[in-house]
Amino acid sequence: MRRTEIKQILHSDKADFEVKVNGWVRTFRNNQFIALNDGSTLSTLQVVVDREQLDESTLKRITTGACISATGKVVESQGRGQKYEVVADSLVILGDSDAESYPLQPKKHSLEFLREIAHLRFRTNTFGAVFRIRHHVAYAIHKFFNDRGFFYMHSPIITGSDAEGAGEMFRVTALDLNDLPKSEDGAVDYSKDFFNKETNLTVSGQLEAELAALALSKVYTFGPTFRAENSNTSRHLAEFWMIEPEVAFNDLDDNMDLAEDMLKYVINFVLEQSDEDLTFLENRLLEEEKNKPQNLRSPMALKEKLQFCVSNEFQRLTYTEAINILRNSKPNKKGKFQFPIEGYGADLQSEHERYLVEKHFKKPVILTDYPKEIKAFYMRMNEDEKTVRAMDILFPGIGEIVGGSQREERLDKLTKRMDEMDIPQHEMDWFLDTRRYGTCIHSGFGLGFERLVLFVTGMTNIRDVIPFPRYPGNAEF
Ligand code: 4AD
Ligand code: MG
Repeated sequence: MRRTEIKQILHSDKADFEVKVNGWVRTFRNNQFIALNDGSTLSTLQVVVDREQLDESTLKRITTGACISATGKVVESQGRGQKYEVVADSLVILGDSDAESYPLQPKKHSLEFLREIAHLRFRTNTFGAVFRIRHHVAYAIHKFFNDRGFFYMHSPIITGSDAEGAGEMFRVTALDLNDLPKSEDGAVDYSKDFFNKETNLTVSGQLEAELAALALSKVYTFGPTFRAENSNTSRHLAEFWMIEPEVAFNDLDDNMDLAEDMLKYVINFVLEQSDEDLTFLENRLLEEEKNKPQNLRSPMALKEKLQFCVSNEFQRLTYTEAINILRNSKPNKKGKFQFPIEGYGADLQSEHERYLVEKHFKKPVILTDYPKEIKAFYMRMNEDEKTVRAMDILFPGIGEIVGGSQREERLDKLTKRMDEMDIPQHEMDWFLDTRRYGTCIHSGFGLGFERLVLFVTGMTNIRDVIPFPRYPGNAEF
């Protein structure tokens, strides 16, 4: 007999059929009622065993965490809380779990503790819900782009270029670190390394995506990216996934429309697809915030927040307009910002971004036209020669979720900017070729996948929305 998934049983429109179910025991009550979970859905299935029929030794092995297989009949449940249950007529222990030493006891564990046992946290309701939703978010992103005629492009993970011009990178080498080849001046001789040059893990697939966009018109990447910055925050990972669409003939307005449409599409998809998991996470958040003072609680419940986000236009304004709002804001005047806003040119800190989104506009915000000094070399220069056609999308509770721009497609302007920023042109000749041969207006952006999953699940730490987080001091599993 083939196994039936618990989701299928619970969603069935009739009872009275034979099934085989496999899964992990959550709890076992009165030597009779097993709460069984197989991950197909949040809910557990109640499996009722006949303690007269089962031998004592098998009964003892039905412990929290054990993997079992049961066959029996699906019947309408007499108990509260579930429509159907399975009355087992046979039960096999597939994998024992020692009740004493099993780290996941049937009680509430803190997220910090669960992070330490990330290999087992998939088995909790919270992480089951988070990782099912993570899947749906990824699927929705691919579907969104596919339905609009985009091509999924695989950008390299090992690269010799530093896309952002200033990123801190993880080096990739096959050299023996205890016996490094040196050139005459004492520097490490990377020409002896695997690729005959210095290489690193990519910080972004953008530059390669640009090459593809200037031929296939509409492409996107969806891959892992790596940053060796020492950011120990609830919004940063050293290894995270990024989605980077790049579109020929799009200007910045088209780029903003694309990003806003995509975010709304994905959030809507999850609202439709993951109601059970979202409801669970919504209640989890309400419970967690109960002990917080009112002003630190989320202003909306999770699903209401998501709904709000899909049904309202994002607020679009320039960096300069934002600086004026921030300069005249109460927290700035009262000295409440850790980084006071004095004038034009400052890079926005997360406290500023969150003020704009959560206090001032109370909805997602797209900031455009940043000063060139605080943005990357490839962004298109505005007429004023001071600002570039950048855009950042800021989300409530998250801050920056998307960063992008219209690209500088004019060879002379691009090389001038590279010189000003000390970016060696000869190393980027391949990139400049697109501007030499058939250049055109084009735009793109990068969406931080985990930041979006963080937003959608209502979790508070980015380390809890990726299976095995990498951050300073941690590369477990
Ligand atoms: O703003 P960033 O650095 O932009 C780029 O990398 C561009 N090349 C994108 C493009 O135009 N194609 O990163 C893009 C997004 C950020 O908005 C943020 O959501 C996320 O990536 N991000 C991180 N997420 C988790 N941990 C980190 N350390 C992150 N750094 C950036
Ligand atoms: Mg950015």
